[in-house]
Parts: sequence; C-alpha cells; structure tokens
Amino acid sequence: MKLEQLFSVKNKIVLITGGSRGIGEMIAEGFIANGAKVYISSRKEVEIKETARRLKKTYGGFCEAIPCDISKIGGVEKLALEFKKKETHLDVLINNAGAVWGEPLEKFSEIGWDKVMDLNVKSIFFMTQKFLALLKVNAQPDSKSRIINIGSIDGINTPYYENYSYSVAKAAVHKLTKVLAARLISDNIICNAIAPGPFPSKMLGSAVKHDYTIISKKNPSNRVGRSTDIAGIALFLASQASEFTVGEVISCDGGLVASAGHDLTND
Ligand SMILES: NC(=O)c1ccc[n+]([C@@H]2O[C@H](COP(=O)([O-])OP(=O)(O)OC[C@H]3O[C@@H](n4cnc5c(N)ncnc54)[C@H](OP(=O)(O)O)[C@@H]3O)[C@@H](O)[C@H]2O)c1
Repeated sequence: MKLEQLFSVKNKIVLITGGSRGIGEMIAEGFIANGAKVYISSRKEVEIKETARRLKKTYGGFCEAIPCDISKIGGVEKLALEFKKKETHLDVLINNAGAVWGEPLEKFSEIGWDKVMDLNVKSIFFMTQKFLALLKVNAQPDSKSRIINIGSIDGINTPYYENYSYSVAKAAVHKLTKVLAARLISDNIICNAIAPGPFPSKMLGSAVKHDYTIISKKNPSNRVGRSTDIAGIALFLASQASEFTVGEVISCDGGLVASAGHDLTND
C-alpha cells in the first residue's frame, strides 16, 4: 500500500444508518467527498431521499437512499434485503441511527427504555449479524472491512440531562463494540466506536432549544463539534491508517471526557 493512500476511502462501499441528518449526514458528506460509494438509511422516505439528492449535488459522487426503520429485526432484515439488490459486498458499516429520551426519574416511562435500547443497542447487534456475510466478502488480512458504531460521551461521563436509558444504552454500545471487535477480528473485520460530544443536530438541538451558546462555553474547546471533526474520525476508522486500531472507543468531544472533573473556572 502506498503511503499517499493511507487515509483513502476511494471506491469503498459504505452504509450509514441515520444518514438523513445530523451526525450521519456529516459522516456521509466526508465519505462522498472522498470518493466512497455511500448508501444512507433512515425512516422518513422524503427526508432521506432529499438528503441523498443534496449530497450528490454538492459533492458530485455517489449517494443513494434506502428508507427503513431498523428498530426491530424485521426492519434490519428488510434493509439487508434492499441493500443486497444493489451490492454484492459491503466495506464499511456505520451504525449511527439513534434516539434519546429525557424524563425525570420519578416519571421515566417504559417506552423510554424500549425505544432507546431497541434502536441504540439492539439494532447495532442485528445490523452486524445481518450484514456480516456482505462484510466478509472483501475482508482480507491486509484490507479489513470495518464496523463503526456511534456511541456517546454520555456513555462515559455521567450526563447532565436526565436521559437514563440513553446513557446506559451508549455505555452498552461501547461494550458491544469491544465484544464484537474481539469476535470479528479473526474474520478480518475491525469494529471500533466513536463517542461524540456535542454536535448540532435535531437530537441535541431539541435538548438545548437550538441555542448552542452555553454548551459551547462549557466545552474545553469553546465550541460544539463540526462536520469535519466527526467525518475525520470516521474516515480514519474506515481507512488503512487504522488497521491496527481494534475495539476502541474514541471520544470526539473537544476535550470533555479528558477534562471531566477538572474545573476550568479555577485555571
Ligand atoms: N448530536 C450529538 O450531540 C450527539 C452526541 C453524542 C452521540 N450522538 C449520537 O449520534 C447519532 C446521531 O445522532 P444525531 O444527533 O445526528 O441525531 P438526529 O439528528 O436525531 O438523527 C438521527 C438519525 O437517525 C434516524 N433514525 C431515528 N430513528 C430511526 C429508526 N428507528 N430507524 C432508522 N433510522 C432512524 C433519523 O431519521 P428518521 O427520523 O427519518 O428515522 C436520523 O437520520 C446517534 O446515535 C446519537 O446518539 C449524537
């Protein structure tokens, strides 16, 4: 392999769940701009098709939408079936689709557990299971296929918001990443996770009323995440450059995890 291609994802076939907006769209942009063949999936057909159209127009590459609800195993199977009609292998699976639920402890509902655990944890397991054969097709000792799971720093730090099922689910995503990594490395498939900090999106925006001023000020980097921040880590984890990085959970948070418990106001 040429050093000039160390970070290349050119011509790789990539599937990103939750790719219609937010972090999934930011990651999709990075891959399309770098010459990958990108499939994005989410529930709302009009929105996901519009995102694919917009990304193709902006970056001129390949982006196709496959609408699907993956919170139940039937949806995951449907997505795998639709994908197999289009491709005979998969190089990079990015399990990004996620949901959050916030309620005070006294009122926190059962649906708030089921919805979050089904999508954030269970779907990652079954996406891996149902796409395993496709991931194996081109997986070689010197060119491994990749799974990138999107966790959260809420699965590492104790969150400020009362999102009990979410932070627990994200800790489970981090653990599942390591368990799957240990099992899949012998199949030449590398599994890693990214734990994002705050990135502007519908999910985070609804928690902060779309005003990111306070969380920017509270961040050691004095801002929220940008699309290049999250796309950069995902591109690294999909490229040859990360071939010896296995089962890791990499924070992408401006320094929040590194400085947890360190009171910046005392500096
Ligand atoms: N933004 C942050 O600050 C932040 C921080 C840490 C971690 N994260 C994680 O990053 C990931 C993306 O979050 P985001 O902030 O970008 O959220 P978002 O803007 O709400 O996007 C969520 C995506 O998931 C899709 N989705 C939701 N339910 C689905 C289902 N049942 N089946 C298939 N797709 C579904 C949504 O499209 P539809 O509604 O059309 O299905 C959308 O494309 C999540 O795993 C989240 O936990 C985000």
